[in-house]
Amino acid sequence: MPVRIAVIGAGVYGTHVLNVLSAAARSGEADLVAVADIAPPTLERAVQRFRIRGYADYREMLERENLDAVAVVTPDYLHRQVVLDAAAHRIHILCQKPIATRTEEGCEMIAAARDAGVLLAVDFHKRYDPAHRELKRSIRQGRLGRILYGDVYMEDRIEVPAVWFKSWADRSSPAWF
Ligand SMILES: NC(=O)c1ccc[n+]([C@@H]2O[C@H](COP(=O)([O-])OP(=O)(O)OC[C@H]3O[C@@H](n4cnc5c(N)ncnc54)[C@H](O)[C@@H]3O)[C@@H](O)[C@H]2O)c1
Repeated sequence: MPVRIAVIGAGVYGTHVLNVLSAAARSGEADLVAVADIAPPTLERAVQRFRIRGYADYREMLERENLDAVAVVTPDYLHRQVVLDAAAHRIHILCQKPIATRTEEGCEMIAAARDAGVLLAVDFHKRYDPAHRELKRSIRQGRLGRILYGDVYMEDRIEVPAVWFKSWADRSSPAWF
């Protein structure tokens, strides 16, 4: 049985998640049923593009859709309540990184999922980055010889907080990023 799944937050990254789940739905791996977003134009765009039901209030979606899982793609500082509500409905959760912007909130979310007996996975999407996977494969296959020392870092352009996350960057931080 394909997993009945919905997405909460259809902004920049929510659209990527919807794309992936829509492809999974086409191949029969998932049943992408709905999307929730508080911004009417964003919601309307996602509903039209992915031909799924839309909700302005994600809590109504959790009540009505009999979901197996949700993908939480709201801004960093808004993951907590959505995750707690999904856990209360006994729905499995894929939450974007960072899980939360306060350690206590992250612990509360993990405890809620554990108590409800649902999976709470954090989507560290760089783990699936093709370049990173290729590097891991090369090391495993010994194509780079014996690794003696490693030093990895990632930089980002200023446009990420200044443009992409402009409306909420001040409520997260580069450390969480
Ligand atoms: N943009 C990226 O490249 C990227 C990559 C990986 C992870 N992420 C993570 O994904 C999350 C979302 O980032 P984004 O870039 O899509 O942000 P965004 O601001 O583009 O989108 C967030 C969306 O959430 C909606 N939203 C806010 N509160 C809501 C609520 N209560 N119910 C339903 N919808 C709500 C907003 O209306 C908005 O459409 C963040 O945690 C971010 O760190 C983003």
